[in-house]
Amino acid sequence: MKIISNVNELKTYLKKEKKIIGFVPTMGALHDGHLSLIKTARKECELLVVSIFVNPTQFLAGEDLDKYPSRDDADKKICKLAGVDVVFLPQRSDIYGDDEVSLNAPNVRGFVLEGATRPGHFDGVLTVVNKLFNIVNPDNAYFGKKDAQQLNLISLMVKQLFLDVNIVAVDTVRESDGLALSSRNIYLSKEERKEALKISRSLYMASKMVQKKVYDTHEIKKVMSEILEPLEVGYIEILNREFEVLDNIEIGNTIVLVEALVGTTRLLDNIWL
Ligand code: PAJ
Repeated sequence: MKIISNVNELKTYLKKEKKIIGFVPTMGALHDGHLSLIKTARKECELLVVSIFVNPTQFLAGEDLDKYPSRDDADKKICKLAGVDVVFLPQRSDIYGDDEVSLNAPNVRGFVLEGATRPGHFDGVLTVVNKLFNIVNPDNAYFGKKDAQQLNLISLMVKQLFLDVNIVAVDTVRESDGLALSSRNIYLSKEERKEALKISRSLYMASKMVQKKVYDTHEIKKVMSEILEPLEVGYIEILNREFEVLDNIEIGNTIVLVEALVGTTRLLDNIWL
């Protein structure tokens, strides 16, 4: 496995290889959720690149950029065991200069849900993913459904900027008790970890109600908010895959999303119905 931090070195290497390239962008502190993306990519591609870069432009002032977990050595081991060919591990100065061209997330989809509480977050995500795509030039790039809005906006960027990359969506990996894996789960105390289960429970309840043919999204949201009490809920939304609000569930075209604050940690989760 190669570990490359220099942009030109990586570009030169990848151009020479002429293989089907799979790409998994991450911010490191790899867990089984990331690993699921890596394993899926490994099966589908000839040359697998994983990037580890804690992207400063997607963090707002006062967010956890400085305390974001960093475990480069453990991450390299995980990648090696998973058969990754190249780990791209750039420094901030490899990716960003002083006076930067950057992308703006779309005014509507980029500023609802996560974008409402974190305005500018998706500008940073799209800017770095676009840069990474230009560096790696992948055939396929893998993203988790766990970050549904991010996945949606990246797919939109690929379409609108006419990028030549196929976006692959990978299912959310959960702990056995339902908690969606996240690099931020390590911030949770034992008690908060228990409270956090209300999030996945509320989503399972939504799924159960739909199985029982309750399709009214307002009714479902009401029951979900009762389950989530007393957590501070950022949003409960029921949208179609185009991120439009639904009054009635459309089976096969619905995402139910929750964001809640557990202690001081904001957790996201969703379920695709
Ligand atoms: P990061 O949070 O490290 O996540 C990297 C990828 O792993 C994302 O596509 C995310 O959706 C996926 N992922 C995280 N938890 C998951 C889980 N439990 N199950 C399945 N997939 C999961 O998302 C980012 O980094 C950054 O915004 C990035 C795209 C790298 C741009 O900086």
